[in-house]
Amino acid sequence: MQVFDTILALRQYLTAQRATGKRLGLVPTMGYLHDGHLSLVHTARRECDVVVMSIFVNPKQFGPQEDFTAYPRDMERDLQLAQEAGVEAVFTPPVTEIYPPGFNTEVIVHELTTPLCGASRPGHFQGVTTVVAKLFNIVGPDRAYFGQKDYQQAMVIQKMVHDLLMPLEVVVCPTVREPDGLAMSSRNAYLTPAERQAALVLWRTLQLAEERLAQGERQGQRLAAALRQCIAAEPRARPDYVAVCDPQTLQEVDELPSTVLVALAVYIGKTRLIDNALLMVPTA
Ligand code: PAJ
Repeated sequence: MQVFDTILALRQYLTAQRATGKRLGLVPTMGYLHDGHLSLVHTARRECDVVVMSIFVNPKQFGPQEDFTAYPRDMERDLQLAQEAGVEAVFTPPVTEIYPPGFNTEVIVHELTTPLCGASRPGHFQGVTTVVAKLFNIVGPDRAYFGQKDYQQAMVIQKMVHDLLMPLEVVVCPTVREPDGLAMSSRNAYLTPAERQAALVLWRTLQLAEERLAQGERQGQRLAAALRQCIAAEPRARPDYVAVCDPQTLQEVDELPSTVLVALAVYIGKTRLIDNALLMVPTA
């Protein structure tokens, strides 16, 4: 496995790979790798000849009051895990390589970025699309891999790729969970043992949504109210949003379409966790 921290060196390596007709897969990450990240690598390995992973904690997607400085980092362990998973090249740029002095351009996707996480994290998705567009331009992948765990992010990136005619395919992979249902996330490292237990409320809430639909619930607002009650029963949990949405527009719906997105953002102590489920609404 090769590790690059400059755009020039990575591009030289990738030009040589491409010249031999190899298909490139890109897995963008902020590091502190877990099995969710590695599942993207496994899928990329099946579909591409060379897998490139980026590890870059992107300052532009963190708000001023957010956890950019505290965000967990362990480069040595990440490189070990990436190598074991079969990554060919890792890109670990310093901040100045991506945002040199004078950098003054942003990529903005409208509408899809206004609800859900966009409402509580202004500027967040602009930071994501800007860095992901740069990574796409640096690597020139045939395919790029994202997790359903961050459903809105995957939708926003798909929209950017479509609207700006970026010549690659976006692949969205299923959410990887701990055995007890908690979605894997680098931010789970912030949780105390008691909070780790309390964090299961997200999974319980998604399961409740599925149960209510199976029992015949067909009103989005009533469903969302039941889900809020489920979260309120956990004293360490404070909901940021609980939304029953159209999976394409991400707008909240009352009359349910055939598939709904149930999306949650919940503070457990000071840690904000997100999770979601795409649920079929049973007919009849
Ligand atoms: P990060 O949170 O490190 O996640 C990197 C990728 O792993 C994202 O596509 C995310 O959806 C996926 N992922 C995270 N947890 C997952 C899980 N439990 N199951 C499946 N996939 C999971 O998302 C980012 O970084 C950044 O915003 C980034 C896209 C790298 C831009 O900076």
